[in-house]
Amino acid sequence: MKIGVIGAGQLGRMLALSGYPLNHQFGFTTKSNNEPSSMLGLVFNENECQNSAESIMNFADVVTYESENTDVEIIRNISKNVKVFPSEKSLFISQHRCREKKLFDSLNIPCAPNQKVNSLNDLRLALNNIGFPAILKTATNGYDGKGQFVIHSDSQIDKAWDSMNGVESILEGFVSFKRELSLIAVRGIDNDHKYYPLVENIHHNGILRKTIAPANRIDHNIQDIAEKYMRKILDELDHVGVLTIEFFETDKGLLVNEIAPRVHNSGHWTIDGATTSQFENHIRAITGMPLGDTTPIHNCCAMVNIIGKTGDTNSVLKMPNTHLHLYNKKERKDRKIGHINVNAGSVDELQKRLSQLKQYLPK
Ligand SMILES: Nc1ncnc2c1ncn2[C@@H]1O[C@H](COP(=O)(O)OP(=O)(O)OP(=O)(O)O)[C@@H](O)[C@H]1O
Ligand SMILES: [Mg+2]
Repeated sequence: MKIGVIGAGQLGRMLALSGYPLNHQFGFTTKSNNEPSSMLGLVFNENECQNSAESIMNFADVVTYESENTDVEIIRNISKNVKVFPSEKSLFISQHRCREKKLFDSLNIPCAPNQKVNSLNDLRLALNNIGFPAILKTATNGYDGKGQFVIHSDSQIDKAWDSMNGVESILEGFVSFKRELSLIAVRGIDNDHKYYPLVENIHHNGILRKTIAPANRIDHNIQDIAEKYMRKILDELDHVGVLTIEFFETDKGLLVNEIAPRVHNSGHWTIDGATTSQFENHIRAITGMPLGDTTPIHNCCAMVNIIGKTGDTNSVLKMPNTHLHLYNKKERKDRKIGHINVNAGSVDELQKRLSQLKQYLPK
């Protein structure tokens, strides 16, 4: 099938890399001719063609997108002519933190206390209810922890609101979590569901640095609860494709942080560590193919992001059971330009390999 992707970053690139063996073809909407996906299919450059969304619609048998910040209006228009998966509803809800929280409430899925904030006065009222510390976030367009302000005391309220630049926001209670976990699942057009194991995510300054897959010390009970929440969300959205839930693990159990209607950075380990990768499963789902087995093929896996600088990649290539993935992006501070997947037979072996990747991990 011809698959149109809105966006041409690393997620689109990895979707295409997994889709070609299944005989699919790819087209991307781009902003420049030098994006991670630019060499992986036809490109419809927003600056060169009159209407890149219309061009991708004419090209594709099915359209998908690589970011929850995609314009809903564009997806609505394309859907009138070509199937779009995940559908408009998944996009509409997951691109807005307040809508997401409403969905969690309606499905009885626990999350941090929260309140919509549209003014300084709203913020003061919300803080009266939620208390300190709390975290103020823009309702839309956040990524890698951008557009967030942690408020510890009264003296920071004005500064916090100023930092939002007047956009719709949400105040969340600050969760004192033990770990951050995420669950990736895929739902097919025929309503088949498959789940990857819960993984542990380690962030630094709001940016994901490392994923351990599967997460250590997860009993069946927690995996079952996470899958139960996932199933409710997938079914409510009538979602087709991959969906990710980010969780906080707390003393009182799992709280949902947010969802993403797409393949996720915390699922990159599946390329080398699972029977079927998240990328292939997304492609299988949106093209109506049977879903693939999500079982890990190694006891322990890890993914380390390459942030800002490419580093000494030859030393990575010399390591056993280790795979390098670069995205054809220029080096820039805090930019995700690649990742490294490590597979191991034991936790000790994994730790040993990770200690060889110190150049890529925060001190
Ligand atoms: N309510 C909260 N309590 C405590 N920490 C939080 C809370 N919300 C977010 N954080 C921290 O900030 C990080 C980024 O927040 P969040 O995932 O909501 O934003 P994002 O910009 O969408 O990030 P990403 O693109 O990495 O998913 C979280 O991974 C977590 O470490
Ligand atoms: Mg997040």
